[in-house]
Amino acid sequence: MNFKLDKNSFEHLTLSEIQAEANFLSRRQLLKDEDLNKIESAINEIKQLLNTRNPHGFIVRQARLSDIDSLESMVAYWAKQGENLPRPRADLMRNILSFAVCVKENVVVGCACLYVYDSGLAEIRSLGVSPQIQRQGQGRAIVEFLLDKARRMEIKKVFVLTRSPGFFAKIGFSATTIEALPEKILKDCDKCRKKNSCDEVAYEINFSY
Ligand SMILES: CC(C)(COP(=O)(O)OP(=O)(O)OC[C@H]1O[C@@H](n2cnc3c(N)ncnc32)[C@H](O)[C@@H]1OP(=O)(O)O)[C@@H](O)C(=O)NCCC(=O)NCCS
Repeated sequence: MNFKLDKNSFEHLTLSEIQAEANFLSRRQLLKDEDLNKIESAINEIKQLLNTRNPHGFIVRQARLSDIDSLESMVAYWAKQGENLPRPRADLMRNILSFAVCVKENVVVGCACLYVYDSGLAEIRSLGVSPQIQRQGQGRAIVEFLLDKARRMEIKKVFVLTRSPGFFAKIGFSATTIEALPEKILKDCDKCRKKNSCDEVAYEINFSY
C-alpha cells in the first residue's frame, strides 16, 4: 500500500525532527545511503552557516538532563531574589522537555520553560538570565525561542506574570489582567501568600493560525 503524505507534513519540523525522519526511513531501507548523506550534509551546511552568522556568541536550545545542575542553580537564584517561584530538582527533571536554555561558551547563562495548561494556553515560567550578563539579549532570545515553539505547537495564547513588564512589552507582549487568565488563578494564585497583595502584572501574546 502506498500512502501519500499531506503536503504540509514537513511544515514546522525542526532540523532534529527532519534528521530523525531521515534516520527512520533509512533504517527501514526506504531511503538510500546517498540520500541520507545528502540530507546530513544539508543539515551540517545549515549549522555551519548559522554558526558563522551568529554575532552573539550564545545559542538557545532545548534543555537536556545534563543541564539540570545549572537549571537548579539559576531557578534557585532568582527564586531567592523573589523574582520567580522556587522549583524542586525533581520538578525540573520531570519538566525538562518544557525548558529551553541559553548557552555561552558551554555554560548555561539563562533558562525558561513553556508550561501548557489543559485549556491549551501556555505560560512562560522560570525565566532567568545570569545576573552577570543582564541586558545583552539572552532574555529576548530565550523568550523568542519559546514563542517559536508555541507557534509550532499551534498554541494560541502565551502569557506571563511578571515584575518586568517593560521587557515583555519590548518582545511584543501586551498587558492583560490576571482575572482574564483563570488557569493561572486556579494553578498558582489561589495558593500564593501574596494572593491579596500581588505585585506582578499579566502580559500576553496571541497567535492566529
Ligand atoms: C527579565 C530578564 C529575563 C531580561 O533578560 P535580559 O537578557 O537582561 O534582557 P534582554 O537583553 O534580552 O532585553 C531585551 C530588551 O528588553 C529590555 N529590557 C530588559 N530588561 C528590562 C526591564 N526589566 N525593563 C524594561 N526593559 C527591559 C532591554 O533593554 C532590551 O531592549 P532593546 O531590544 O530595545 O535593546 C532578566 O533581567 C532577568 O533574568 N531578570 C530576573 C528574573 C526575572 O525577572 N524573570 C522574569 C520573571 S517573569
